[in-house]
Amino acid sequence: MTGVINDAISKLARSSVKAITPYASARRSISGTTAATWLNANENALATEYQVAGEFNRYPDCQPAILLQAYANYAGVASNQVLISRGADEAIELLIRSFCEPKQDSITLCPPTYGMYAISAQSQQVNTNIVPLTADCQLDLPAILATKPKLVFICSPNNPTGNIIPQAQIITVLEHYKTSALVVVDEAYIEFISQSSVASLLKQYPNLVVLRTLSKAFALAGLRCGFTLANADVINALKQIIAPYPLAEPVVQIACQALQTDAINEMQQKVVVINQLRNNFIDFAKGLSGIKKVWPSDANFVLLQVADATHLIKALQQQGILVRNQSNQLGLAEVVRVSIGNAEQMQNLQQALQNYFNLQESI
Ligand SMILES: Cc1ncc(COP(=O)(O)O)c(C=O)c1O
Repeated sequence: MTGVINDAISKLARSSVKAITPYASARRSISGTTAATWLNANENALATEYQVAGEFNRYPDCQPAILLQAYANYAGVASNQVLISRGADEAIELLIRSFCEPKQDSITLCPPTYGMYAISAQSQQVNTNIVPLTADCQLDLPAILATKPKLVFICSPNNPTGNIIPQAQIITVLEHYKTSALVVVDEAYIEFISQSSVASLLKQYPNLVVLRTLSKAFALAGLRCGFTLANADVINALKQIIAPYPLAEPVVQIACQALQTDAINEMQQKVVVINQLRNNFIDFAKGLSGIKKVWPSDANFVLLQVADATHLIKALQQQGILVRNQSNQLGLAEVVRVSIGNAEQMQNLQQALQNYFNLQESI
């Protein structure tokens, strides 16, 4: 898929759609590659096998009660505070479509951060207030509070910087916008940290929305299953426009299996393994003189600043290893993001990095 629209269709397509640069998803940007080591999409390499049963001649439930309850139990909220969607990505789009008037309202974003907030806003002709993170990757509170958005997106742990945003900062934003905007805290990577989720603040803050996914710690990126946690009024507003059958029956079956107690325990054990591999990788990367900066991380990925990100990425790709360039993100010149794979993949990556920098030094 190239994103190019030919002449005849171009006359029909909305100008706001033509203006969009599609999200360069990890899959889209390297489609067709034969690489073996995928460390570019923050997926979880430690997969589990699931079984699907039954017949599929009937339309599925829009919001199956059994899955709502399973996720509510896992997240410690009530089932009427949960919406299930095709990944967290669909939830981002539903929030913008439900709460923002095109050409009138705005959302506030804090880059460098996840790219889909801006793309979803642009596709709905919703304006964006850009308030960069501070030099130490925290929220610039005075600048955020000076904006008048309908939605504020806060990603914690933040993709791609890997740090959490302190709850005290989030509470300041929630308080300020208590009656004027929703504060959307994207917790796609929450399982990788031990600190508690902001979901416990839902009782106090009717304007809080929390995004979750099975794509990361649960190792189910291919399933496309995400969750929105919010008070029932917000959930009901999203239900107004959600597709009639957003969740395929096999998705629901697998998601329910992934949320059983044993499966959650297994997921948590895998998180321990991944976090250990991440910490080992950070130590290793800090020891390589060719790496200028290694960011700390509370998630399953690590940022590295090098002399020439494009050159390094090509060299790794030639060895079948895919990592992601972040150089087009605000403040991240010559920065690559490495997702944490399994032990063997991390060993291959470390060997490849060692060889690359040894060669660079000898030139
Ligand atoms: C911060 C963040 N939010 C949301 C998503 C999308 O998650 P999903 O796969 O559930 O659509 C991603 C995917 O990389 C992400 O990094």
